[in-house]
Amino acid sequence: MHAIPVRRLTFEVPEPEQFHPIYMANHAAVSYNFTGLGLYVALLEPFIVKSLRRVLDRVTDAELREAVDRFCRQEAQHYQQHERFNAVVVAHGYPGLEARIERLAEDFRSFLEDRDDRFRVGFVEGFEAYTTQGALEILESRVCDHPRTDPAFGHLFRWHMLEEIEHRNVAFDIYQHLYGDYLYRARMCWFAQRHMQRFIGDCTKIMSAADVERYGERCRVRPIEKLVLALRPWPKHIRSMLPGYSPHGYVVPDSVADLSARYTAMADSAT
Ligand SMILES: [Fe+2]
Ligand SMILES: [Fe+2]
Repeated sequence: MHAIPVRRLTFEVPEPEQFHPIYMANHAAVSYNFTGLGLYVALLEPFIVKSLRRVLDRVTDAELREAVDRFCRQEAQHYQQHERFNAVVVAHGYPGLEARIERLAEDFRSFLEDRDDRFRVGFVEGFEAYTTQGALEILESRVCDHPRTDPAFGHLFRWHMLEEIEHRNVAFDIYQHLYGDYLYRARMCWFAQRHMQRFIGDCTKIMSAADVERYGERCRVRPIEKLVLALRPWPKHIRSMLPGYSPHGYVVPDSVADLSARYTAMADSAT
């Protein structure tokens, strides 16, 4: 099996009437953070696939070409599954959420139409340099296995984070192969990561406000939690922007290989 397997899995999406927004470890801030991420990637990942497919012909290394192709196919699976879960979230009714999602969609449309390949590949790498670190943290925290985590969402995010780790080198390698400009890469890390954090922050605010009204104080994200959410990304931002950064240097725990094998075994197909 290739190190970046393309799996097709069947995920059971919660019924709309059973959905509760505090689905991750019974924790409001954590749950909204995951929901914001799920909403973001459903629009980011189609952008990733289109951006990299546009430059694939310029990749002269056959091994990297295959890795990029597999990377795109993994991302395509991710956004298709997130779209199904996101429909349940949006149907829960959040004033202002659909407008914010539309603004995000407009950003990606303009990145595809008005920006150049270097911007797009840099953006993809800027995002991936952050999410690989986030994915390692999330799997290590075992939040997806928490007894108060909705198993359907736990399954979705565990699988997604696993595959982010599996394809962690690809965006960096294609950026280096085509451009290799350190300063521009650092700038795009900053731009892409702040773009995502702003969106997640806005979603958290919108959803928490609506949910406090209907479910009470357990849905409030307290000021200290907002501060933690704002500060927590910083070590990941800085690490990804340092000269000499490379995802090839990550120490991946043995448990990730076990998880890869588990998800391959449970997939409807894996190639
Ligand atoms: Fe993904
Ligand atoms: Fe990814």
